[in-house]
Amino acid sequence: MRDTRVDTERTPVRAAARFVARHPRSVGSAVVLDVAVLWVGYQTVLMAAGIAVVAGASWRLLDRPTFDRFAGRLLRAWWRRWWSYRRQWLRIMTACNLTTIDHKGNTLTPRVTWVKSTFAWDTVTVRMAKGQEPEDFEKVINRLANSFKTRAANVRQLKPGKVALDFQRREPFDDMFVPLPPLAESVEAVNLRRLVIGRDEYGRDFTVDLLGRDLHILLGGATGAGKGSFMWALLRALAPLIRDGLVRLWVIDPKGGMEFGIGEEMFHEFAESDKAGQKLIRKYTSVLDARKLELGRQGVRTFTPSLETPLELLICDELAAMTAYADKAIRAPFELDLSKALTQYRAVGGRTVGASQEPTKDVIPMRGLFPTKIALRLDSASYVDMCLGEGMRDMGAFADKIPEYLAGVAYVKKDGRREPLRVRAAYTTDDDITELVRFCTDRGATVTPIRREADDEHVGQTEEDIYSTDFEKLEVDDETDEVDETDYYEGDEDEEIA
Ligand SMILES: Nc1ncnc2c1ncn2[C@@H]1O[C@H](COP(=O)(O)OP(=O)(O)OP(=O)(O)O)[C@@H](O)[C@H]1O
Ligand SMILES: [Mg+2]
Repeated sequence: MRDTRVDTERTPVRAAARFVARHPRSVGSAVVLDVAVLWVGYQTVLMAAGIAVVAGASWRLLDRPTFDRFAGRLLRAWWRRWWSYRRQWLRIMTACNLTTIDHKGNTLTPRVTWVKSTFAWDTVTVRMAKGQEPEDFEKVINRLANSFKTRAANVRQLKPGKVALDFQRREPFDDMFVPLPPLAESVEAVNLRRLVIGRDEYGRDFTVDLLGRDLHILLGGATGAGKGSFMWALLRALAPLIRDGLVRLWVIDPKGGMEFGIGEEMFHEFAESDKAGQKLIRKYTSVLDARKLELGRQGVRTFTPSLETPLELLICDELAAMTAYADKAIRAPFELDLSKALTQYRAVGGRTVGASQEPTKDVIPMRGLFPTKIALRLDSASYVDMCLGEGMRDMGAFADKIPEYLAGVAYVKKDGRREPLRVRAAYTTDDDITELVRFCTDRGATVTPIRREADDEHVGQTEEDIYSTDFEKLEVDDETDEVDETDYYEGDEDEEIA
């Protein structure tokens, strides 16, 4: 007997209707184009298209991050979906053994339902064919990356029957040199709202705002990931204020002073052991408690660093040594004082930077209190959400995929900003640190030009040259840092395959 139901489902009309429903934007654009050609003639449409292309290209040239935000992602997601993924899909799925056979002998293929594209990564949402599990994709993930000609790939299960395949198309930091910013000569040259630490993936300055958004910063990263470079870059950006007593540094380096011992002279207080660290934070909180009372009495509500009330920056290099691995008599009061430091001193100038190799709950129970979180290379995928917050890996923060050779590369999550941003800190060598310490401890210091060795690698290359290959040198104002990196989605999420 004929199976009429199956025949009905496969009529061309139904197939066409399904196509329209699945690709409303693409079909809609084609229809609008056709109508326009009929209405005004193809010459006019061609002319309008030419003008749009020239305008778009100029925009991209002048301000790539905003172009990317409003148009680039949309165009790229659409282009990548049709040209890179749909076009080759059947061939690559078959070649990688990702098809299955049903009871009637029909070949079932996984379907692309959604493509999202960021500057460096594409995420392709796939409805698996019947009989498949995410592990089937995991097994051939390197073959998929190679077949689609991408650098790396990664599978995530989104919900039953659905996986996301993430493909890394490019590595901006391979070509991008992150220069160490010059030492500012005077306090006036430092803007506490825009302390330059490194560059982001677009080649813009990556800045920290110690007066507003980035009150406290948490750094998570495996050993050798480059946590030190973020902390030293911050100190370098603050140099004239440290020298003139407007910023005081309270540094806990419980690993025996391995990271910060070299800078001891420029610190207000320094602790090299867990016990000393606990005493240091106690003193820190008592100083700020007293200031809170005093300024509260005077009715002061906004903080401006001065000689009487300097910005008090608490730095703790390995939090685990003070929490998870410390004696209870040290751990308990330390955790209390740290939570206090993270919640009570916004208006009186208390700021905290903490680092840890394992951003787990045991190590940093108070990690939610850090408004800015930075994830460098991490040992496991589960650490990413622990460090940056729930769902951040799904948003594209693949900190566990940062290769070892890219030390100092990280994903940043700031409060009030949805998407993670990929950045790299400038690297402060031991010589640069020595120079910084000399500068901060000598009130009559003069600034000598720096970046000797690093600049040698780029002899004859101006900064313009370095970026002109892939990145435009960008003038950025305070706002652009806030760019909401919302990606563009092209897809038909709700379509179910018959
Ligand atoms: N921003 C950077 N750019 C380039 N290279 C870097 C950067 N940061 C670090 N490196 C390289 O990585 C090495 C390790 O960095 P660093 O000591 O800062 O790591 P860490 O995260 O502090 O590790 P640990 O937890 O073991 O202290 C450095 O010696 C340097 O060679
Ligand atoms: Mg370190």
